[in-house]
Amino acid sequence: MIDKISTLGGYIHEYQKSVAKPEEFWSRIAESFFWRKKWDKILDWNFSEPRINWFVNGKMNITENIFERHLFTRGNQPAIIWEPNDPKDENRILSYTELFIEVKKFANVLLQQGIKKGDRIAFYMPMIPELTIAMLACARIGAIHSIVFAGFSANSLADRIIDADAKMVITSDGGYRGSKIIPIKDIVDEAVEKCPSIKKVIVVQRTNSKISFHNKIDIWWHECMANADEMHEAEVMDAEDSLFILYTSGSTDKPKGIVHTCGGYMVYTAYTFKNVFQYSDGDIYFCSADIGWITGHSYIVYGPLLNGATTMMFEGIPTYPDAGRYWDIVNKYGVAQFYTAPTAIRSLMSMGQEYIENKNLSSLKVLGTVGEPINEEAWHWYHDHVGKNRCPIVDTWWQTETGGIAISPIAGIIPTKPSFATLPLPGIQPIIVDAEGKELSGKSVEGNLCIKYPWPGMLRTIWGDHERFKKTYFSTYDNLYFSGDGVKRDEDGYYRILGRVDDVINVSGHRMGTAEVENAINEHPLVNESAVVGFPHDIKGQGIYAFVVCGELSAGGEEGIKSSIRKGVSKIIGPIAKPDRIQLVKSLPKTRSGKIMRRILRKIAEGNHSSFGDISTLLDTSVVDEIIQGAIKN
Ligand code: WTA
Repeated sequence: MIDKISTLGGYIHEYQKSVAKPEEFWSRIAESFFWRKKWDKILDWNFSEPRINWFVNGKMNITENIFERHLFTRGNQPAIIWEPNDPKDENRILSYTELFIEVKKFANVLLQQGIKKGDRIAFYMPMIPELTIAMLACARIGAIHSIVFAGFSANSLADRIIDADAKMVITSDGGYRGSKIIPIKDIVDEAVEKCPSIKKVIVVQRTNSKISFHNKIDIWWHECMANADEMHEAEVMDAEDSLFILYTSGSTDKPKGIVHTCGGYMVYTAYTFKNVFQYSDGDIYFCSADIGWITGHSYIVYGPLLNGATTMMFEGIPTYPDAGRYWDIVNKYGVAQFYTAPTAIRSLMSMGQEYIENKNLSSLKVLGTVGEPINEEAWHWYHDHVGKNRCPIVDTWWQTETGGIAISPIAGIIPTKPSFATLPLPGIQPIIVDAEGKELSGKSVEGNLCIKYPWPGMLRTIWGDHERFKKTYFSTYDNLYFSGDGVKRDEDGYYRILGRVDDVINVSGHRMGTAEVENAINEHPLVNESAVVGFPHDIKGQGIYAFVVCGELSAGGEEGIKSSIRKGVSKIIGPIAKPDRIQLVKSLPKTRSGKIMRRILRKIAEGNHSSFGDISTLLDTSVVDEIIQGAIKN
């Protein structure tokens, strides 16, 4: 078992060891896992190629480290507690033994369907236990899961299936979200039509919605599981075999398939989970993310289960049947650690005290946030009203790419400060650089956040495009991993994340590439061009502001065109990418060489109508005045 850091002095000691001798540090942690064959070398790396290999030639299977390693001691302990969308429906609790049986059965189903080690399987699923069962079954046989958040459009799903050349989709008939039923299977059908690589679709029955069932490729989950064999020996995986692909947005158009591998990801998620949340045996841990995002992968499924923890899976939304739902869940199960996004906190805070006032939250020990900067007001509300002034808040900074938490307090051990992610975890060597890549050392500095040494949980490549991997993360600055975030280090040496410095906006903790949204807007037949920027939004953190140039207006006038643009974006990417504000403009501010000056648009979207800095390269300054006038009216 992984030892927990238990004092501030202990943290400092561990951190110093992890920097002085990273290989030794990680090998000691890796030794607490079950390896079929031990590694020959801990780390083999070069950031300029880039090449990153941890636990070289080590053989293992992540599910043996979840199940076989824990069965004798924890067989009857709940692994997953699933809380349904409707609190009146029955919950489901799967012990480690029960979950293991389901995983082995589904592993056999996959094999029977011709899935082999290395094949890709796409997921488009609501938050139900079958999602976790199927994920772990993939890991068990060495198939690579690619989970697509079930709020993306059919189009986005198809793009991801095609990019990964997936053979199979795992889905459900429908999904419950508050009072709505989402037609999950219809969306999959629409996507699969464009994806000849898909040979089979496995469908879990959840809502009993009427669906079109295509006998040639569709298979019901309950039918194929009915007679599946319960015996299954895990596939032996190399530490550097791919475990999963997870797509995320970047500053250029196409989402990137971030690849994580078996050994390093296992060691890193397990280590960070146990330490950051200070998980103790018997604690009930609740992360409210969706498994379609990295937070769900690392801190609902892998991190907790690798530690033999009890992890909650919540199917619904925080406001159904009312805005007290999270607190009801905390009370119902006696949740000890609660991990959510600042956007959820701000939204619940805005609904008023009555939903939290009389709830019993005395089981809580640790609170966490992730995904975007947390403003001080939300931090204090979380601390005072949820944590009742007695629970440390871990503001955890990390990314799909980092695999696990990288900069964060260790609960109860590293003193917190509102809106600061505080200090790097052992094994993480952050460095702040200026635009030229010069290190800004010392305290009270601000610049771009890079990491200068590999850690086991980091991404290994972008699926099918190693060159893009190099260009995106290792070419901005020599020999450094560049995160894309701005950061400040204060007089105490604490880190505060300032947000993205590239063309990525963070809407309710979801990453959106501006180019991706622009391309979707530009598909509209009446749109000539567009520019998308982020703007401060009370609940979402950042909202999407689109400046759009149209050739002519349709019959519906300005409002008609705006609503059809929103519909279009929803269809092409998904509802999460719908612009919050659209301003129709005659033209966009461009430099003489034709580049859109986003800096100016960002200022206007923020409501700042002056202090644009140097605008001497602007082709036509009257464009800016006109946009400002329009923004004031908009
Ligand atoms: C942002 C989510 C401030 C950041 C795990 C990063 C944060 C992006 C924090 C990654 C935090 C994440 N404070 N900003 N505690 N955590 N971010 O890939 O901009 O969905 O680059 O991973 O979210 O988002 P992703």
